[in-house]
Amino acid sequence: MEQSELRARLARAGQDHLLRFLPELSRAEQRALSEELRGMDFEELGRFFRRAMESGDAGQDKVDARMEPVPRQVLGSATRDRDQLHDWEQRGLHHISQSKVAVLLLAGGQGTRLGVSYPKGMYDVGLPSHKTLFQIQAERILKLQQLAEKEHGTKCVIPWYIMTSGRTIESTKEFFLKHKYFGLKKENVVFFQQGMLPAMGFDGKILLEEKSKVSMAPDGNGGLYRALGAHGIMEDMEKRGIGSIHVYCVDNILVKVADPRFIGFCIRKGADCGAKVVEKTNPTEPVGVVCRVDGVYQVVEYSEISLATAQKRSPDGRLLFNAGNIANHYFTVAFLRDVVNTYEPQLQHHVAQKKIPHVDVVSGRLLQPDKPNGIKMEKFVFDIFQFAKKFVVYEVLREDEFSPLKNADSQNGKDNPTTARHALMSLHHCWVLNAGGHFVDENGTRIPAIPRFTNGRPDAIRADVNDNLKDANDLPIQCEISPLVSYGGEGLEQYVKNREFRAPLIIDENGVHELVKNGV
Ligand code: UD1
Repeated sequence: MEQSELRARLARAGQDHLLRFLPELSRAEQRALSEELRGMDFEELGRFFRRAMESGDAGQDKVDARMEPVPRQVLGSATRDRDQLHDWEQRGLHHISQSKVAVLLLAGGQGTRLGVSYPKGMYDVGLPSHKTLFQIQAERILKLQQLAEKEHGTKCVIPWYIMTSGRTIESTKEFFLKHKYFGLKKENVVFFQQGMLPAMGFDGKILLEEKSKVSMAPDGNGGLYRALGAHGIMEDMEKRGIGSIHVYCVDNILVKVADPRFIGFCIRKGADCGAKVVEKTNPTEPVGVVCRVDGVYQVVEYSEISLATAQKRSPDGRLLFNAGNIANHYFTVAFLRDVVNTYEPQLQHHVAQKKIPHVDVVSGRLLQPDKPNGIKMEKFVFDIFQFAKKFVVYEVLREDEFSPLKNADSQNGKDNPTTARHALMSLHHCWVLNAGGHFVDENGTRIPAIPRFTNGRPDAIRADVNDNLKDANDLPIQCEISPLVSYGGEGLEQYVKNREFRAPLIIDENGVHELVKNGV
């Protein structure tokens, strides 16, 4: 495309300010900017902008008034339905053993709140082993493959699809290469890249980050569906014979990748789409809530629910909208195929008003606004729930499965490296107790454990109070069990039964290590 043609296209779309600084740029910069602009579909961007703004104007009150909680009949629970857990787990493990389950990691976010310049999955929260989130997840996949193989006597593979963005793809791939895919086979780890969208002013004008560069951001984790189509990922899944996908976010240190119980539950219910939730107990917690709006399932995001609605309570005192979304979703491949082929274009972008640094097109100066000056548009991964033929919800315990890493330690005491580390160690402490092990203090006295009650009956030994509610300085017992040894607390008796340990304790593929005794 000639430069004049590009100019004409931009003028027609009302975006010709983007070439305003062209004469000041070096040849290389001119080429790069023109290239970037040529790749953009301005008609489509204009449409996205208008639709996003219209839906934003529709009014929050109206969504609040139309929300209803999830009905009991679609709900399964890891605590209330204990008698069915074994069956669900067996069903899920069987499916895994047939190589019919894949996991899909959403890792295209920019980790702005955590404030690191590299992908969040590469973060080391400071566990005794110093494993990163990526390594922990990879090892859980490896272990689950082994468990399914052992149970059913067949070799199996859980392919790992990893969605990155333009900002995270290179460093993510390099990291996996450097760490030899953490023991997984390279051909079973498939990277693909989501799209990016330009930031716009409230008038629909695209913003420049630099004179030679458009301000771009990933198109939200719901960019997944377009990316699946664009990169032939559905074909890859179908070629491998995958039937079910577990989609999850990178930041949850407790995530049970390809959780056989969740998968088995969804299969038993004949669902094409499912969401895992924890009970939301604090109205201002930044989690979306799974609910129905006009009878259709969806997540109302924490940024989109009013405080009055978030605070509503049921007669039993619990929050009315308490199905807290932990961004763990189940989809059948057939459902995803329909989404990619048919429904994706119907998904609306959500609008986030942001303070977006940009080059002023008149003065050429870089402006750092102190109030929102424009929007970023994002699709959300859960926006496809509305198209499900059979949607189910699976509720699990927060302390077993959810501790997200969102913030830096310095910001506040919530969802940071310290709470993530504590949540994992506290859970692993429980596992040791439940397998018959004990911890002693420096005087050799047993540290008492508190039984955990579910539905009024003792459920399991619980090591500590809910870590997410704990003060970051309130130290848990340091105990870390490698996912290569145990996926969800199973198989630990041989290591710990009737034994006493002093923390810090690590159990890994090389055995049991008491760091103090060994003088480490
Ligand atoms: C997300 C959920 C929220 C849930 C919470 C639980 C969405 C839209 N919101 O919120 O309902 O309660 O997690 O922790 O899912 N990502 C991409 N591409 C993007 C943007 C994000 O892949 O363009 C990925 C991130 O890498 C991350 C995940 O999506 O793995 C969630 O992103 P984040 O921005 O952290 O979501 P939250 O706002 O915390």
